[in-house]
Amino acid sequence: MSHFHSIARVPGDPILGLIDAYRADGNPAKLDLGVGVYKDAQGLTPIPCAVKLAEQRLVEGETTKSYIGGHGDALFASLLTQLVLGADSPLLTERAAATQTPGGTGALRLAADFIARCLPSRGIWLSDPTWPIHESIFAAAGLRVGHYPYVGTDNQLQVEAMLAALSHVPKGDVVLLHACCHNPTGFDLSADDWRRVLEVVKARELLPLIDFAYQGFGDGLEQDAFAVRLFAAELPELLITSSCSKNFGLYRERTGALIVCAETATKLQDVRSQLAFIARNLWSTPPAHGAAVVASILADNELKRLWMDEVEAMRQRIASLRAGLVEALQPHGLSERFAHITQQRGMFSYTGLSPTQVQRLREDFSVYMVGSGRANMAGLDANRLDQLASAIARVCH
Ligand SMILES: Cc1ncc(COP(=O)(O)O)c(C=O)c1O
Repeated sequence: MSHFHSIARVPGDPILGLIDAYRADGNPAKLDLGVGVYKDAQGLTPIPCAVKLAEQRLVEGETTKSYIGGHGDALFASLLTQLVLGADSPLLTERAAATQTPGGTGALRLAADFIARCLPSRGIWLSDPTWPIHESIFAAAGLRVGHYPYVGTDNQLQVEAMLAALSHVPKGDVVLLHACCHNPTGFDLSADDWRRVLEVVKARELLPLIDFAYQGFGDGLEQDAFAVRLFAAELPELLITSSCSKNFGLYRERTGALIVCAETATKLQDVRSQLAFIARNLWSTPPAHGAAVVASILADNELKRLWMDEVEAMRQRIASLRAGLVEALQPHGLSERFAHITQQRGMFSYTGLSPTQVQRLREDFSVYMVGSGRANMAGLDANRLDQLASAIARVCH
């Protein structure tokens, strides 16, 4: 008897499938705008110098590989909470704390299992569209998943529809919000929009879960924390998932945290006891290396300064590629049609290209992007913007 006989194959991650197709493409002028990692002018995903320096120190100074505790590295947790909530946040003393997780994905899964276990019957509301892994993580944890409108078929932010939908979700449900650099669209809420969302959250007594995977990639490290800090200041309770994958370039080191803000110090500890219990069943204790790197950087003024400059350079590179692409589209009469690319933030852009246009770009011009028309702006090459603009013009006209 075969135990595995009836097991069917599930399709692979479509974005990872793009990587294979890109690798197999022999065209030297190919462009990878698919996978969601930052790339520098050489097309590489670099290790920041601050990370390299911190790693050198760690190799010399590390004395044990024994387990770190269930909440992870305490210094990492406290410095990351400061980075997210702001060094002067009154919550830092006893109302907020981080549990270290394997990346932002681990933080989301921990949050999902926490909701399923401790807040049963609460549904979670995701933006339409959202990062596809949000859908599967919360479904895997057994939560009821709903959607609120975010970007419509006209490729525009739908703030009114979003607010209207949120004001009808069941009281007490959880709403997942992207702090900045919305994945996949790149469309972010304005400060006023955030204040209006906050009012609905208060009125419906919703629990926000803010996914903060791109701090520093939008308008800057502090600016990108606007919504998180606004909600933390105005609400008694909040969940935040923070990822160090992009801004520290630590992708494979799986470094992130679930930050909980609670109404009282006692409640915070109650929640944290549950998180430690859930994490124990998921991964026992988190991986140490990435968090130790982040802690070394944030604890050292010189390394922190260097890292902040490096994040700022990544941010500026993406912003200038966005502007450069729209400029390159001008001779083709397309700069207005694609003007939203400069309004969007972070690595991703919902270009507004249709699946057929995306397919033609791939087949005829070796330009790889996700079928939804999502392009990773960091995958662009400043010297090849004209090439891309003409390919776009060919599939648009
Ligand atoms: C919106 C969003 N949330 C969370 C993550 C989690 O990233 P990681 O698990 O690599 O830290 C990502 C990564 O692509 C993301 O785009």
